[in-house]
Amino acid sequence: MATRGNSIIKGIEINEIITVLNKAYADEWLAYYQYFIEAKVIKGIMKDAAIAELQQHATDELRHANMVADRILQLGGTPLLNPKEWFTHTNCGYEEPKNFDVVSILEDSIKGEQCAISIYSKLAEMTRDKDIVTYDIVSEILADEVEHEEDLQALHDDITEFVADIKKKIT
Ligand SMILES: [Fe+2]
Ligand SMILES: [Fe+2]
Repeated sequence: MATRGNSIIKGIEINEIITVLNKAYADEWLAYYQYFIEAKVIKGIMKDAAIAELQQHATDELRHANMVADRILQLGGTPLLNPKEWFTHTNCGYEEPKNFDVVSILEDSIKGEQCAISIYSKLAEMTRDKDIVTYDIVSEILADEVEHEEDLQALHDDITEFVADIKKKIT
């Protein structure tokens, strides 16, 4: 535990920060697995572009899990030790892919990113001017989640427009 590092935290309980970070940690692992498995099962038009995007996001979510775990340890906490706890701590849950079509998979993923954006913006508000280090970490992750949402939405729109164009041409 970073004794001096933690002494600069003001106006917020360290245990409260550890609790919310562990919830975010559960979200990151579930998001990682969701992208991992989506990239495997996805089917349909332009799926290669979607696979590349989903794999990139999986890598990013795992990197976020690392960042959050390291901060929990610095604060003197313990990151969740059992994957069963991911489901009891998660904010955003896990969207099991039921329809493997590219557009459905992208829609599921966009929902997940929108939840992540809400959670990290709450964490940024909660830690601003109180815990500068956690604030920096959650702000950096928040920027990534905003980019994720944008990338998925752009790909989703490209694919749906492309499909609509083809339909117009053949009717
Ligand atoms: Fe993330
Ligand atoms: Fe993300």
